Amino acid sequence: VPPDNVALPVNGGGLRSRWLRLRERCLTSPVFHRFALAFPLTRPVVRKRQAELFHMVSGFVHSQVLLACLELDVLHTVRGEGATLAQIADLTGLAPDATRRLIEAARALRLLEADGELYRPGDLGAALIANPGVQAMVLHHKAFYADLGDPVALLRQSKGNTQLARYWRYATSDDPANSSADDVSAYSDLMAESQRMVVCEVLAAYDFSTHRRVLDMGGGQGVFLREVLNANPTLEGILFDLPAVASRAQTSFEQTGLSARVEVKGGSFFEGDMPSGADLVSLVRILHDHDDPAARLILKAAWQALQPGGKLLICEPMQMGKVSAHMCDVYFNFYLHAMGSGTPRSVGALREMALEAGFSRAKPVSTRSPMITGIIVCEK
Ligand SMILES: C[S@@+](CC[C@H](N)C(=O)[O-])C[C@H]1O[C@@H](n2cnc3c(N)ncnc32)[C@H](O)[C@@H]1O
Repeated sequence: VPPDNVALPVNGGGLRSRWLRLRERCLTSPVFHRFALAFPLTRPVVRKRQAELFHMVSGFVHSQVLLACLELDVLHTVRGEGATLAQIADLTGLAPDATRRLIEAARALRLLEADGELYRPGDLGAALIANPGVQAMVLHHKAFYADLGDPVALLRQSKGNTQLARYWRYATSDDPANSSADDVSAYSDLMAESQRMVVCEVLAAYDFSTHRRVLDMGGGQGVFLREVLNANPTLEGILFDLPAVASRAQTSFEQTGLSARVEVKGGSFFEGDMPSGADLVSLVRILHDHDDPAARLILKAAWQALQPGGKLLICEPMQMGKVSAHMCDVYFNFYLHAMGSGTPRSVGALREMALEAGFSRAKPVSTRSPMITGIIVCEK
């Protein structure tokens, strides 16, 4: 019996707890497993669970096969005319046996497909070819996979001491505004490459035509703003990002003939130098990179920058429903831990933070592909 001053753990309710304990007793018993596999009515369930567990066991191998295919440019090698095993070996520089293993694995994962003696992109391989942003994301995962090589060490690690943190230097820097051009070039290019699919979803879900001036906070090299302005010819833009990133955005607006419609400003969210005059602010893939205290400051800065009656768009993957469970609870939880800053959040948590920052309303808007982005529209 625990002493009086020790709080007893709260369980989720009598009946459910009893059921969970009964289920645990059965499922942890080898005798039960032998019975369930032998009995024809439970056998399909056992097989399904075995496959699910094996999928988890082999998941890391799946990722590495994908990474190898992209590093060796296998998908582009087989595109169009197709390629034989010998041709793939030639072009990748792998020995024939290693090529055969890679091709067999890629076929099983639907990255490749056989057509007689030739190999061509499979349905998932073809979808990857269509999405250079996803390819770029996968390629930069090499640093993340290196960190995941010892997951327990990763979980014990203090922030900033990982390969991924070295890639995203602002995430753990004490002075992000002083990042150098070298510090920001790789991640800024990656963000620009992967932004196209995000802005497509945002444009399909939100009508920008009622706005006059949009401020994209942490706008990177300006891909989001460029696409939004191209789709809304009367709109003007302001891009705000770290000085080294902002100067890359300035160059890209000059090259695309948009500089007359866009003001670019370098600075930090946390230093109170946000430009004013916008009736719409966007935070695209920003809040999840920051821990709660920093995310609150960013929302407050967005609120202060906005004109009265203006709106804020929060666009990033959010925990909602089944689709995002694997993405947020598994993937982003670990990715952002390895990066050294930030956390995935639910729609409810983001809404609450926005209201706390001063917004009067915060409403989720459904998107065609919640895996790419969710959206919350907040009103000042
Ligand atoms: C994950 S990227 C997203 C970029 C862009 N919004 C997109 O979705 O492609 C985060 C951006 O926030 C910028 N950033 C990080 N810390 C910042 C800070 N303290 N002040 C201003 N910008 C910052 C980074 O330079 C980077 O461009």
